[in-house]
Amino acid sequence: MAAVTLQPAAGAQGELTGILMIRAYHRSRGDLERTEVLVPDSAHGTNPATTSMAGFRTVNVPSAPDGGVDLDAFRAVLGPRTAAVMITNPSTLGLFEPRIGELIELVHAAGGLAYMDGANLNAIMGRFKPGEAGFDAMHFNVHKTFSTPHGGGGPGAGPVGVGPKLVPFLPTPRVLREPDGTFRLERPGERPSSIGRLRSFVGNTGVLVRAYAYILAHGRDLALVSEDAVLAANYLKHRLAVDGSYDIPFERPCKHEFVAQAKTLHRETGIRTLDVAKRLIDYGFHPPTIYFPLTVEEAMLIEPTETESLETLDAFADALVAIAREARETPDLVRGAPHTAPVRRLDEAAAARKPNLRWQPLTGRETPCPD
Ligand SMILES: Cc1ncc(COP(=O)(O)O)c(C=O)c1O
Repeated sequence: MAAVTLQPAAGAQGELTGILMIRAYHRSRGDLERTEVLVPDSAHGTNPATTSMAGFRTVNVPSAPDGGVDLDAFRAVLGPRTAAVMITNPSTLGLFEPRIGELIELVHAAGGLAYMDGANLNAIMGRFKPGEAGFDAMHFNVHKTFSTPHGGGGPGAGPVGVGPKLVPFLPTPRVLREPDGTFRLERPGERPSSIGRLRSFVGNTGVLVRAYAYILAHGRDLALVSEDAVLAANYLKHRLAVDGSYDIPFERPCKHEFVAQAKTLHRETGIRTLDVAKRLIDYGFHPPTIYFPLTVEEAMLIEPTETESLETLDAFADALVAIAREARETPDLVRGAPHTAPVRRLDEAAAARKPNLRWQPLTGRETPCPD
């Protein structure tokens, strides 16, 4: 990419930054008719949310049976109204987008720009260069790629890289290098084409420094991080495919994550993905993402990352297989899980609608959360 802003505080804000720059680009050319952003149906919910926040209409593009974007469906919705396409690569199904070249060429030929949701950069470091592939903008989730664990709950950072067309629109202030080699911050108003400031100072510096330290520590071996993450995911996927208790919808090799389904298990035993996830807690595992991507029935999105040992991967696969056996033999055990956690099944709607975020000492018969 030609330049990067470190300002966005997370992936979602990176998307918004990128799409606002794309909007500014079209406006700067007087191209006001481009009101639509194409988003594949497997995308993270932040993609359509971003396009709406930036004032665009989201046009849903269906996936083909191989999990990639359906090219015919893409061509059918592409046109003079297209401002951009947002492509997650690898996709949320853990698959490298097989028709990436055609998608970028088609959107450029139609006058739109190509945005890459790079939340899954941890699968492709040292292997794929989004700028050279033709993407005009891309955010990456520093907190999912450079050592801050996914789901760690801490602050994130969502830097955005841009190609030459979008450099004039980068958030302000940029850090500029003077001819004598010194650096300075851009002055207010110095670059009127900027979309403005997205976040205070220059972003979540703590997370960025941590990521920078991780990058320096790995040096040239950074590509091995991706290779290990991809190897771990393919190993787990293979183990589950050989066992056969869960459906594996996409056969081709995955990247850093893969989708498994409790679809057949549910049909045969009544046990759902939610039950399997809750039972995993009794086996000492943090459950994976479930019911996402939305396009996959009874989905589990399993993303082991580069750090898990072979022993942990095996223990996780063994636990999933054991739970499938329990689903057939002692389904109430699975349905009532977790049994060993301090709290049982939470009322997730109440937790979202009436959050109780303040710690209070327990008295009497109160439980920390309602069952
Ligand atoms: C594909 C994808 N895009 C965007 C996001 C949003 O990133 P963040 O949670 O940092 O806002 C995520 C987060 O999980 C993601 O997986």
